[in-house]
Amino acid sequence: MTGRERFVRTLQGAPVDRPPAWFMRQAGRYLPEYREIRSRHSFTEMYKTPDVAVEVTLQPIRRFGFDAAILFSDILVIPEAMGLPLDFPEGGPRFARTVRTADDVRGLRPVEVQRDLAFVDAALRILRRELADETALIGFSGAPYTLACYAAEGGGSKNFENIKRMEYAQPALFSELLDRMTDAVIDYLVMQVRAGVDAVQLFDSWGGHLTPESYRRHALPRAKRIFDAVRAAGGRSIHFVLGSAGTLEEVQSAGADVTGIDWHTNLSRAVSTLGGHAVVQGNLDPLALQGLPGQIAGDVRRICAEARGARGHIFNVGHGLIPSTPISGVETALEALRSLPKV
Ligand code: CP3
Repeated sequence: MTGRERFVRTLQGAPVDRPPAWFMRQAGRYLPEYREIRSRHSFTEMYKTPDVAVEVTLQPIRRFGFDAAILFSDILVIPEAMGLPLDFPEGGPRFARTVRTADDVRGLRPVEVQRDLAFVDAALRILRRELADETALIGFSGAPYTLACYAAEGGGSKNFENIKRMEYAQPALFSELLDRMTDAVIDYLVMQVRAGVDAVQLFDSWGGHLTPESYRRHALPRAKRIFDAVRAAGGRSIHFVLGSAGTLEEVQSAGADVTGIDWHTNLSRAVSTLGGHAVVQGNLDPLALQGLPGQIAGDVRRICAEARGARGHIFNVGHGLIPSTPISGVETALEALRSLPKV
């Protein structure tokens, strides 16, 4: 069974020999071959140049043989395409302008994906050809609320006070901003489905900062619209909301094929909440990869056992790899997965 077959069959809820694996942020600074290219290009140049984005996407596939490749890019290309100048200084992304007032929201440019994000379409089409039937290809987007957070705060944030103030004090404007993001996300993901991805992942990295009530009111209906559009275009989807332990049923009810489970959530408890028909993804603590080999292998076996009640399981970390991740930790985890008793 090739990695692509293993991944696609799992998305469909069909049986496989072992869980397919890919890791969030599997391409990045923990790889010496990434740091070599990064020493010659800015991060922005890397994701905007299809040949470079393709090369960096393939690095972890060559080194580790993951079952799926995820396009090397960033979720912030959408607000950037809306006209917010973006930079990645040390310490995380920064926008040169913020979106906090009605004039700011109305000043956002409508995104024309084929014009503004053609570099993503080009990179995906090359990758689809290069990966052929061996390895699956995953596209992605940030979720509307997470993108709105970055636009309002101008970067990462501790208290999210600008976006929360908009939510509570200017609810109509907040809705308008989320709708603008949703429209762009839909066009962007449909473009990726047409370019040949096997699945798209929606990253709602800040969705866990919404109260469950706000999640239900604001994030859930937009996520549903997005997954409906992806399905109508013939695509499949994975929904990852960081901090979703208290809203798992809502996250699942948005209708993606797979529910991502972060490392804060016990996987067997998540499976009993979601039901035996669910396909889940996750959820090794990315910091566990810094542990001893026996510890890592034990965690991998435990997580796969915890997922056994589900219809399918995509093995992943419960949030992205960080730059200090040891390569040996990733190798140990994948060896443990490959030596699981065959089902
Ligand atoms: O998973 C992959 O390998 C695909 C590539 C990918 C990146 N970012 C590369 C990246 C993906 C899917 C993302 C998604 C992303 N970007 C998210 C959602 C996932 C999550 O972590 O919750 C978020 C919130 C962002 C925004 C972002 N981009 C941050 C907060 C940072 C800085 C943090 C850091 O690690 O430096 C980035 C920069 C970034 N995105 C890098 C990479 C490889 C580092 C770039 C560099 O300096 O070389």
